[in-house]
Amino acid sequence: MSNASFIVVANRLPVDAVVDDEGNRTWRRSPGGLVTALEPVLQANRGTWIGWAGIAGEAPDAFEADGVTLMPVPLSENEVLRYYEGFSNASLWPLYHDAVEPRVFRRSWWKSYYEVNERFADVCAREAAPGAVVWVQDYQLQLVPGMLREKRPDLRIGFFLHIPFPPVELFMQLPHRMEILKGLLGADLVGFQRPLAAQNFLALTRHLLGYRPRGHYVTVDDRLVRADAFPISIDTAHNEEIAGSERVRQRAKEIRAELGEPETIFLGVDRLDYTKGIEQRLKAFRELLEDGRLQVPNAVMVQVATPSRERVDQYMKLRERVERQVGRINGEYGQVGLPAVHYLHQSFDRYELAALYQAADVMAVTPLRDGMNLVAKEYVASRVDNRGALVLSEFAGAAGDLRQAFLVNPHDLTDLKDGFVTAANAPLDDKMKRMRAMRRYLRKHDVSRWARSFLTALGVPERSAAYNPGS
Ligand code: ADP
Ligand code: F6P
Repeated sequence: MSNASFIVVANRLPVDAVVDDEGNRTWRRSPGGLVTALEPVLQANRGTWIGWAGIAGEAPDAFEADGVTLMPVPLSENEVLRYYEGFSNASLWPLYHDAVEPRVFRRSWWKSYYEVNERFADVCAREAAPGAVVWVQDYQLQLVPGMLREKRPDLRIGFFLHIPFPPVELFMQLPHRMEILKGLLGADLVGFQRPLAAQNFLALTRHLLGYRPRGHYVTVDDRLVRADAFPISIDTAHNEEIAGSERVRQRAKEIRAELGEPETIFLGVDRLDYTKGIEQRLKAFRELLEDGRLQVPNAVMVQVATPSRERVDQYMKLRERVERQVGRINGEYGQVGLPAVHYLHQSFDRYELAALYQAADVMAVTPLRDGMNLVAKEYVASRVDNRGALVLSEFAGAAGDLRQAFLVNPHDLTDLKDGFVTAANAPLDDKMKRMRAMRRYLRKHDVSRWARSFLTALGVPERSAAYNPGS
């Protein structure tokens, strides 16, 4: 047994290993909101992060980075296929996102999901100090809390789901639904992004297991398990600091100039994922050009689409559809040297992203379904000038926090189009009022407050080595 007193267990480490043709290994930041949120929390708490290094095969040795011990867990090529791309991202991911894309079930995927969860639980059981706090993350590792409790009943176990938790009728479709529910109930605290998700979970314990939840609690054997909402956030101060730098201000000006100084720049920044509503957004933009409500070159769209899960069938097809759509819009409405849509299938560093945020007049965050969506929060925090407008889907968890955004229903194309035009044409003082209110909210509700409230609810004493509220 080792002596880690605060452990985060997540499918991915905060960095992915990249191996070039000569076999040299380098590390790059992992994609997604989970890493964005947890990185500053772990750095402040000097904990241990157990996760996959993003490549199949043997795991690299454990190492230290920025005061955090990173402990890679190996996944074989077959496990990447079945546990990660299969059960996690072709079964659970679509089902938990309201089945906006059909979910796929294959019996062989489950065995791999089970075995990989057990491996993560074993590493954690080996590394945790007596009475340590273990915080398990997300849908890829839902069996870990139950497995860990069997192996190490002395641990304090929290689980946080970064994505939505579906209503009972949808969850009931899931093969091995009982094992998954019992796995989650191995935790002392199960955290969700929104209150409705916690209610769905509690309703399910009644429906599937006949338990009788009271308020936020349910009794499992002789233990009390709490299920509650803890909306995740960003490191607001850090985002503001980057956005306020001269480098970002300069770059934002350059971007506007490179785009031809249009009146309105619409921006989308997403992983290339069908839950993000990229196709609907592009369709709305195309129809606005067709209707003459927007015109090139006065209006342009920049769509950043981070490569994601590129070997999963649904993601490959989405990429083809999106790229075809971009080509069609540019073919019909672009001018020489002036495309209507600037499409970037690339990752960027924090400074370039902040500059894009600052250059954009209208930020379009319009997922069909999203647990939270940190891009929406990053955009607001980056508008240190209080300018810009956020068009935000009602189906993103962030809509519960950023109430002053221009809220839209992305399933309703008319509403989406009206939302874009309203946001673009809103009077400056209205936009500034909204932005100021949202920035105030984010200053108070940042990621350290999120971590603090989760850990306090988990019963972690404020002075314990695992918890450093001042940082
Ligand atoms: P998800 O977790 O589903 O990917 P979020 O919006 O919650 O969605 O988080 C996405 C995170 O990834 C944000 O921190 C965002 O800044 C980052 N990100 C998105 N696109 C890019 C990109 N092209 N390059 C670098 N980081 C990106
Ligand atoms: O926030 C949801 C999430 O699935 C995280 O669990 C994950 O790290 C991130 O999005 C990116 O996805 P992936 O790890 O599959 O590239």
